[in-house]
Amino acid sequence: MNRIMLVAALTLAAGAGSAAAQSVTYENTVKDLVADRCGRCHGKSSPSFADFEKDKAQWKKKTKGPRFDSYAELMVLVKGTDAGALMRRLDDGKNTADGKPGNMYRQLGKTDEDRAQRLDVMKKWVGNWTLKRRNELSEAELSKISAVEK
Ligand code: HEC
Repeated sequence: MNRIMLVAALTLAAGAGSAAAQSVTYENTVKDLVADRCGRCHGKSSPSFADFEKDKAQWKKKTKGPRFDSYAELMVLVKGTDAGALMRRLDDGKNTADGKPGNMYRQLGKTDEDRAQRLDVMKKWVGNWTLKRRNELSEAELSKISAVEK
């Protein structure tokens, strides 16, 4: 998908409130958003989540975060072993304890408007936007995180 189509898809997906709005899935929106905005540092030249965990400092120096160019890998950071990590890093500061945005928020876009729009898309996809860590999340809270693939 090229950039113009991506923007069009995001605009459609963000069609707030409209019951007719297509629901956000990994396949219809998130995959391209992540490839476009995160792929440079979380794509195929990045370490697996396990390898990243082994030596974070080394990867950080190379500006590489854990690889998540597949649904399964991304889910680790949404509701897997590192649940909530995606939300903690992308939050704009409205839900954080210190009121500061997560350090990946700025990667969502070049302008405030782009970032806000993409954050909205990610929130719709996740469903239950929580900044809690895996061990703080109840089964009920976890099950409210939708983040569907298709
Ligand atoms: C310019 C490179 C770069 C881009 C672009 C980037 N990231 Fe990152 N990301 C990193 C680096 C380096 C780390 C590891 C250092 C750290 O924790 O801040 C990281 C860490 C993370 C983590 C924490 C992983 C963990 O297990 O600790 C998440 C979640 C994340 N990024 C999400 C994203 C998302 C989502 C996007 C796209 C909207 C994105 N990042 C775009 C470089 C990038």
